[in-house]
Amino acid sequence: MSELEGRVALVTGATGGIGRALVARLRGAGLTVVATTRRAEGSGLPDGVDVVEADMRQADALPGLVAAVQERHGALDVLVPNAGAGERRSLEDTTREDWDAALAVNLTAPFLLAQAAVPAMAARGFGRVLLVSSVAAFTGGAIGPHYAASKAGLQGLVGFLSSRYAARGVTVNAIAPAAIGGTGMGDALPAETVAAIPVGRTGEPAEVADLALAMLANGYLTGKTVLLDGGMLPR
Ligand SMILES: NC(=O)c1ccc[n+]([C@@H]2O[C@H](COP(=O)([O-])OP(=O)(O)OC[C@H]3O[C@@H](n4cnc5c(N)ncnc54)[C@H](OP(=O)(O)O)[C@@H]3O)[C@@H](O)[C@H]2O)c1
Repeated sequence: MSELEGRVALVTGATGGIGRALVARLRGAGLTVVATTRRAEGSGLPDGVDVVEADMRQADALPGLVAAVQERHGALDVLVPNAGAGERRSLEDTTREDWDAALAVNLTAPFLLAQAAVPAMAARGFGRVLLVSSVAAFTGGAIGPHYAASKAGLQGLVGFLSSRYAARGVTVNAIAPAAIGGTGMGDALPAETVAAIPVGRTGEPAEVADLALAMLANGYLTGKTVLLDGGMLPR
């Protein structure tokens, strides 16, 4: 029996391409999954998933989201703030609204969820936080400066949280995919981005979920950002 079996996980952005794959893998590994979406009705998420409506831009509601999971399921052991947003923009076209929206969903929401969840994980002596970064955090990527900066900010959170909570059983890592097909974000990427992938194809949501599960299962892995990029970056 793995250390994850029977644990309670919260996955945000669960109706996106990667979100659905994450939910399926976590359920397959025997976790109870609470999944957020902006439209719970007709979400298509499988029976047995606790589906909750939440907009990551509603910052004030996020601590309450964690509290509700803890109340309903007894604990929150595994946090995967997967929801992500960012319209494709050039530097000149990026508005303050674009900037604020990307930061709110991609960086502020993961921070607020972690702030609400991690102290209780530490008190119980077990916790897993897996942030969903992007190759754009390192290269700048194809979406825009707002998106790249928001994903790069997650690196600071990984460093801060992992170093302070490692001794209390909480691991904090990030997975940084590139060009994952079958997703709203990946399918919007320009053809030249896809053409430059050394493995010659886009990644699959299931491949992201497989690596995510391995990272969550490994109690000796913390403070790391693991790239899943088809060979785009030499690291
Ligand atoms: N696909 C890629 O190539 C790729 C590469 C690197 C990183 N990522 C990251 O992977 C994560 C998952 O994205 P994906 O690839 O699965 O793309 P996706 O299919 O477009 O899914 C994005 C998810 O984020 C949710 N979301 C967006 N804005 C939100 C908000 N304000 N509040 C709550 N949820 C919101 C969406 O919810 P709705 O369904 O309600 O719109 C959707 O579930 C994101 O963090 C993304 O940045 C993706």
